[in-house]
Amino acid sequence: FPPSAEFAAAANADASLYQRAAQDREAFWAEQAARLHWHHPFHQVLDWSQPPIAKWFVGGTLNIAYNCLDRHVLDGHGDQIAIHFEGEPGDTRAITYRQLLTETSQAANYLTELGLQPGDRVAIYMPMIPEAVIAMLACARLGLTHSVVFAGFSPTALRQRIDDAGARLVITTDGQWRRGKPHPLKTAVDEALHHTPHTVEHVLVVRRTGTDIPWTPHRDLWWHDTITHAPTHHQPQPFDAEHPLFILYTSGTTGKPKGILHTTGGYLTQTAYTHHTVFDHKPDHDIYWCTADIGWITGHSYIVYGPLANRTTQILYEGTPNHPDEHRHWQIIEKYGVTIYYTAPTLIRTFMKWGKHIPAAHNLTSIRLLGSVGEPINPEAWRWYHENIGANKTPIVDTWWQTETGAIMISPLPGITTTKPGAAMTPLPGISAQIVDEQGNPTPPTNTDTTGYLVLDQPWPAMLRGIWNDPQRYQDTYWHQYREHGWYFAGDGAKLDTDGDLWILGRIDDVMNISGHRISTAEVESALVGHHGVAEAAVVAAHDTTTGQAIVAFVILTTDTPNTGDTLTNELKTQVATHISPIARPREIHIVPELPKTRSGKIMRRLLRDIAEGRQPGDTSTLLDPTILTTIHTNKT
Ligand code: WTA
Repeated sequence: FPPSAEFAAAANADASLYQRAAQDREAFWAEQAARLHWHHPFHQVLDWSQPPIAKWFVGGTLNIAYNCLDRHVLDGHGDQIAIHFEGEPGDTRAITYRQLLTETSQAANYLTELGLQPGDRVAIYMPMIPEAVIAMLACARLGLTHSVVFAGFSPTALRQRIDDAGARLVITTDGQWRRGKPHPLKTAVDEALHHTPHTVEHVLVVRRTGTDIPWTPHRDLWWHDTITHAPTHHQPQPFDAEHPLFILYTSGTTGKPKGILHTTGGYLTQTAYTHHTVFDHKPDHDIYWCTADIGWITGHSYIVYGPLANRTTQILYEGTPNHPDEHRHWQIIEKYGVTIYYTAPTLIRTFMKWGKHIPAAHNLTSIRLLGSVGEPINPEAWRWYHENIGANKTPIVDTWWQTETGAIMISPLPGITTTKPGAAMTPLPGISAQIVDEQGNPTPPTNTDTTGYLVLDQPWPAMLRGIWNDPQRYQDTYWHQYREHGWYFAGDGAKLDTDGDLWILGRIDDVMNISGHRISTAEVESALVGHHGVAEAAVVAAHDTTTGQAIVAFVILTTDTPNTGDTLTNELKTQVATHISPIARPREIHIVPELPKTRSGKIMRRLLRDIAEGRQPGDTSTLLDPTILTTIHTNKT
């Protein structure tokens, strides 16, 4: 799908970017950094003298919130709408850049009054409402490090994250709207903070659903009693380019989530640059909508920081895509004239299932660019998206990146790249990637599904600066595999086709991707063995036509636990959902007498995956007892 001449003529990106970046990467990134307002200019673009510790824009200072708010207001754009908020129950708010600045300033003044100091951590556990964005910006303005926890996470998961970050403050809401009903949220915070000692001094609560909630005097504070009355002017201070901006927890190959740390100058440079070029964003014309939740990296980089730095007018939608019915997204697009729409393949496949007559009932002609993120997009879903949402002409950007990379790394550039359904195509200008084998040799181009490993062989501005509280794990997880080469190991399988275009083929480690959410097999296994009836558990991801992958668990019961069939497996599924989050609920649980293990006692997940996907198990020669597979198979069917 080549770009149309019309799109190419007005595109933000031009083909010379690739060449310029290749000639002098650092000069290229310095040029991109000039998109921001620096309080004090940097004197060195990159310090990579102690890899894998990177320092970008050395000596530079800036304030992120100033870049996202104040400078737009000072430039005369105070009346431009920053956020069109659509609440799930149908309430709406249009918030201008001036209003967003005022409310962020009030929040910053009040957080200062609470005694919070630069570098302190603040946990944010909120639904998709404007105050969530304001809370993040107020932290950034004060140099506080926020840690946003997805509001679908359980009290246990929240507690783990609050403790690891050592948060002094939690910002939350009384509840959240889901499918027309209020669901409590503050009670989860209470539960997370119950009993054992913690570092939290205050819980700041936004009233959203109006439900009655338990209250701990002195500790709990209402947003409307405090922030709403705070002074509306706040003078932002500059921070070092490497000042910690946020921690965001993500799943790794072990049960304990990793606190990915991002800093200020490089992160904002790359999120703003990619938002400008990959989405072809034009601040005076576009209405942009990224459907992610602020609890994930996509919400951080492409709802909050990149778009606001670029003076975007955007949609913030609180609810699910099928409330009150499956027309909701298309109604919103029609109502606001959305021009850029960025979503995940799992949702596209859900739309396919609901039927094309639903989007066809709406005027979607305002859309001029579509994006995809979170997992490989299957060519069928790509074509459906192109035809039914993009009127057979809109460019699609399939953007590969990770919580760790902070910003988009591999993607077509609209107006330049000729796209292929299912391929992420090319590393962006300024980014360098390779596909290699286990030894680090480049894998030959292929049109089969042969997988190599994706590595990033040069540092990039928005790269993670470490794992919070765990410097060793940072080294081991990302830099150990190719330590002689000094490359970052992404954990994804990939290939180059014979045209030299890049395809991402999915995770090659024990991280599963369920509806674009990262969940580790170890996390689910540990939730399962947390149940008194479970002696051992092995979890694999099996292909699923809607969610991409689905969780299939194999469990061995303790001897005194009767196998009550569905009653027990439903109980176990609920155990996982409440322990982690409903997104981690297994699709299937099979009670088995044994698990396939090697002679050294390692569970052979590959064979379980074969069984889960209904294939004949592959090579079983290393199994301690090959007859086990027949037994498991019989138990499953
Ligand atoms: C997967 C989300 C194929 C990949 C921004 C990666 C993708 C993981 C794509 C990161 C894509 C993300 N094509 N796979 N366009 N985008 N992934 O940290 O496996 O939630 O490693 O970041 O999602 O997930 P994370």
